[in-house]
Amino acid sequence: MAFENLLVERDGGVAVITVNRPKVLNALNTQTLDELRRAILELKHDDSVRAVVLTGAGDKGFIAGADINELAVQTPTGGREHALRGQHVLDLIEHMGKPVIAAINGYALGGGCEMAMACTLRIAAETAKLGQPEINLGIIPGYAGTQRLARIVGKGRALELLLTGDQIPAQEAHRIGLVNRVVPAAALMSEAKKLAATLASKAPVAVHYILDAVQKGMEMPFPEAEVFEATLFGLVSSTEDMREGTKAFLEKRKADFKGR
Ligand code: COA
Repeated sequence: MAFENLLVERDGGVAVITVNRPKVLNALNTQTLDELRRAILELKHDDSVRAVVLTGAGDKGFIAGADINELAVQTPTGGREHALRGQHVLDLIEHMGKPVIAAINGYALGGGCEMAMACTLRIAAETAKLGQPEINLGIIPGYAGTQRLARIVGKGRALELLLTGDQIPAQEAHRIGLVNRVVPAAALMSEAKKLAATLASKAPVAVHYILDAVQKGMEMPFPEAEVFEATLFGLVSSTEDMREGTKAFLEKRKADFKGR
């Protein structure tokens, strides 16, 4: 995979994507979004990749939002297309069927906060700041931030963040449930990779179905989501990994999952 604005590395079953435009705090222009789309699709279809870490280059920015140079000149139809394209890329991340950990190393604002929210889990450096400052530009979030933020932190807190445009420190983001963990900046990547390696060692089909059951199930009426869960529960029973996991428990040894 050759990209101009991304770095993609592999370490065992873990892939690390780094958005690499540090001069503009890794702001997402059209090209970067498109490169992310291609990288996510490639990693989704690569069976050797079981978890992904997404971060930003440099120590100041995770992603400081959509590129304001592009926003400043957008037309109504262009703005709609821009939002749909961004939503599509974030949906791909959310539904890639593998855990994606946002390692938030600095500013995660606007599209950066939206990107982090599309990830499965979020680990932030103590120095990171998060927010949806679009209101200060006279616009609104367009990568489904109004929807994911309310689902993650609740309607009241989401409306406060969206309407004030405030940047909140990592510890406050942790208090309201916007990030899962806060760690010292120097430990961020090692902690994110450690967590990714742990998730990568789990049975991949079960991981995929848990992601589907929660993410898709939460958008369904409860009784339908229960049927969906039961169907996935039945399907996972057909895997070699289910037989290995239960056998390993009974034989008092560590399971060796193969992803089948
Ligand atoms: N789009 C394009 N360029 C951006 C950007 C964005 N979203 N965010 C930062 N940059 C650029 C700045 O213009 C600056 O470029 P320059 O060196 O050519 O002047 C560079 O990144 C560094 O940012 P700067 O503002 O000088 O750093 P700072 O430490 O003073 O402030 C922020 C950091 C994140 C608070 C500030 O850059 C900011 O508010 N960015 C915009 C955030 C935003 O509104 N995002 C939502 C967009 S929808």
